Amino acid sequence: MKLNPAQNDAVHYVSGPCLVLAGAGSGKTRVIINKIGYLVDKCGYKARNIAAVTFTNKAAREMKERVAQSMGRKEARGLWISTFHTLGLEIIKREHKVLGLKPGFSLFDDQDTLALLKELTQDELDEDKDLLKSLASTISNWKGGSSFQSRRAKSLKMNSSNYLLCYISVMLST
Ligand SMILES: Nc1ncnc2c1ncn2[C@@H]1O[C@H](COP(=O)(O)OP(=O)(O)O)[C@@H](O)[C@H]1O
Ligand SMILES: [Mg+2]
Repeated sequence: MKLNPAQNDAVHYVSGPCLVLAGAGSGKTRVIINKIGYLVDKCGYKARNIAAVTFTNKAAREMKERVAQSMGRKEARGLWISTFHTLGLEIIKREHKVLGLKPGFSLFDDQDTLALLKELTQDELDEDKDLLKSLASTISNWKGGSSFQSRRAKSLKMNSSNYLLCYISVMLST
């Protein structure tokens, strides 16, 4: 597969990060496909140690197909080609022990979260959608942020259920 000079440079540059900035349909994905092949064939990397991250699941499917066509299905086996979120989830699944999670842990999307909170706060919040959303977003901030509450909850080693109950009581008292 013939590459133009700029694509060629990007494919063969493997000593650090490389930003390819070009318009739609100009051959960026082709660079990535060829670079993966180059890393495996010429640089001795194992497919399972290479991750390619896309923005959408559709793009990931397309990239998987193009890589398999270009390198061969067998050689492409083990490559990590997925969205950022799927990659993160796969890492958490593999490393669940380190994180103290059970192997079959489940992942809640926004709807699951709201449904559970609705169930748990039936009497207190009376299914008030705004309050439920605010509750969900504050819990999310606690989990991701370095807020005072987050640190305090960690230091108290709360489990998720008393964390939630504690939070609900804070909400109701403010
Ligand atoms: N150097 C090249 N020579 C010929 N065709 C190319 C070249 N680079 C890319 N293409 C073709 O152009 C089309 C768009 O390439 P693609 O890599 O999907 O672009 P992008 O990811 O930038 O949208 C594809 O059909 C691809 O095979
Ligand atoms: Mg592309």
